[in-house]
Amino acid sequence: MTENQQLDPDPFKQFTRWFADAEQAGLPLHNAMTLATASRAGKPSARMVLLKEADARGFVFYTNYQGRKARELKENPFAALVFYWQPLSRQVRVEGAVERVPADESDRYFASRPRGHQLEAHVSAQSQVIKDRVFLEEQFMVFTQKVAGQEVPRPAHWGGYRLIPDTLEFWQEGEHRLHDRLLYRRIDNDQWVIERLAP
Ligand SMILES: Cc1cc2nc3c(=O)[nH]c(=O)nc-3n(C[C@H](O)[C@H](O)[C@H](O)COP(=O)(O)O)c2cc1C
Repeated sequence: MTENQQLDPDPFKQFTRWFADAEQAGLPLHNAMTLATASRAGKPSARMVLLKEADARGFVFYTNYQGRKARELKENPFAALVFYWQPLSRQVRVEGAVERVPADESDRYFASRPRGHQLEAHVSAQSQVIKDRVFLEEQFMVFTQKVAGQEVPRPAHWGGYRLIPDTLEFWQEGEHRLHDRLLYRRIDNDQWVIERLAP
């Protein structure tokens, strides 16, 4: 990636290419990304989540709708994502507005999850203080017995978010710290400008 011309003019195609490279390189959790949100007051927080879908509509992750990140996204519906694929010496940064994915999309994804993950989504009040681990395990046991032999429906407090990017930056390590940084900036619906940034 020494010249801008080597990049795909479409940032989503460029992302798909790098994501496939990370997968083909066999990197563990190549879909893990840091998600940064901020409170209404602008105080930031960050954590890892897993990318479950990425296309021209945006970047999708799934979580609890009542935890800290959800609270912050309600107050301030903008976020940033960072991927780092160390053996490839590549980083991708994505920023934009965040919205909930439609309920039927969340239903479909929830239905595809392992049963244990479905049960956990019901019993864990994400980001709340709890007494101890035993409390969590008991809640899990009780709910497991309650729904034995039945399908586990998606709880209303759990689902997906889609980050709709207005910028994506592709970073590739270079010799002497002369890294490549190519920034895609959305100027209209599917119109992007590509700019090179100093490392
Ligand atoms: C590699 C990795 C992947 C994770 N993936 C998710 C995820 O997809 N969704 C999620 O809610 N939490 C995920 N977590 C847990 C979050 O980092 C975090 O602890 C949790 O979402 C609570 O965050 P919050 O209190 O800021 O809402 C993951 C953690 C790690 C280390």
